Amino acid sequence: MSNPQPTLARQARAIPRSGIRDVFDRVERVPDAISLCVGEPSFTAAPHIVEAACRSIQAGRTKYTNVLGIEGFRTAVASYSRRVKGLEYDSETEIQAVDGATIGLFLALKAVLDPGDEVIIPSPFFTSYDAEVMMCGGVPVYVALKPEHQMRLNADDIEAAITPRTRAVIINSPGNPTGAVTPADELARIADVCTRHNIWAISDEVYHPFVFGTGETDATDEDRNDVNDTPAYSDKGQTENVAERVIASASSRTAVNRPFPAAPSIAAAPGMHERTIVVESLSKTFAMTGWRIGYLLAPAAVIEQTSKIAELMHSSVNSTAQYAGEAALNGPMEPVVAMREDYRAKRRIVMDDLADCTALRLIEPEGAFYAFVDIRATRMDSATFARRLLDETSVAVVPGTAFGAEGEGFVRLSYAGDADELREGVRRLGAFAMRHGDPLLGRHTPAYHHLEIMA
Ligand SMILES: Cc1ncc(COP(=O)(O)O)c(C=O)c1O
Repeated sequence: MSNPQPTLARQARAIPRSGIRDVFDRVERVPDAISLCVGEPSFTAAPHIVEAACRSIQAGRTKYTNVLGIEGFRTAVASYSRRVKGLEYDSETEIQAVDGATIGLFLALKAVLDPGDEVIIPSPFFTSYDAEVMMCGGVPVYVALKPEHQMRLNADDIEAAITPRTRAVIINSPGNPTGAVTPADELARIADVCTRHNIWAISDEVYHPFVFGTGETDATDEDRNDVNDTPAYSDKGQTENVAERVIASASSRTAVNRPFPAAPSIAAAPGMHERTIVVESLSKTFAMTGWRIGYLLAPAAVIEQTSKIAELMHSSVNSTAQYAGEAALNGPMEPVVAMREDYRAKRRIVMDDLADCTALRLIEPEGAFYAFVDIRATRMDSATFARRLLDETSVAVVPGTAFGAEGEGFVRLSYAGDADELREGVRRLGAFAMRHGDPLLGRHTPAYHHLEIMA
């Protein structure tokens, strides 16, 4: 008789597996499936990035690096953050290279959470969030994103979930899976909540260049002048106005050099520098998902903790990816602008091709490269919808529940892939919904209310 295996940790077993993996497994079994699941660019890194990586290897720059990252990478991050987002971070003490946002998020949570601390997670959410909170001993507290708010973050809903154990709120805008972009004025209200309750904002901004339509911020000259001349304020009303203006215009502070309008960052709000941890990545912005390179922007006291933990986990980030990242951040931005325009065109395909489908309701996607489609008029739950769509039409989408229980009634489709496949996939999706849907329930009417449909 063989010996029984030693016990595995209860904490490890309790960590939920990503729901997206199940979908990928199923898609693999369907030959010629059109997958609208993939959450990564169909592009690869631009040639100057690849060349910089090759040059660094040929020059033998392949040793361990400073745990914060090579100086060139950190100064490139500082300059990029200033140009694109209007954020000021000290490359010596407030910036750390990490191997992608996923690990950056983990380090951020590890630095701020004690066991039992609560983290507010607007839901549906990127699949790592709650699992990583649990891995750090924290307790996820879900706050539903609402269709009537276009799935954007809402300060009142966040504040209502705060308890004495709340330590942080996770901000993700542009959002995965929703494609929602939270506007500057709402971020200013959330900043006010964070300040009054003394909690951290952990802001995942990996989709910041990909903002379209109403999500796109393009401050006026007047805003730009205001930011250099911010008046003192004393009451809350004034605080909100100032914060709103500062966030709106921060990303355009260096408007002359600004390569594209980016989504606003909560870190730009007054008082937020010292309580925000920005989690960033080159994965989406520069089509570098497999390179595993990103960074944290945070106050020095946070970086002291995250770098100590990172050193124990991996000594330093892959050196080649850092040299490539430096070239990406310092280099021409045309490839980013070209991707942005490509996603904008594909977003248009989704919106136009679903416009006549009265059995689906599309919340206008404002950013990232996802559309979050309301399927409740089919009266199927989202897992059933996704399974039957794949079985009957060979089109794969991700059920909303893969992103948290609050995603029930929706499916996520990614429009980052091939345009022809997208067009055909969306056509089949629309036809499937029309076959199974109650068109009256799905119609875009002012009277539409999700609770009525759910009842
Ligand atoms: C919102 C969000 N954050 C973080 C990540 C992970 O990024 P990275 O490749 O840098 O780990 C993703 C990937 O899909 C994402 O959608």
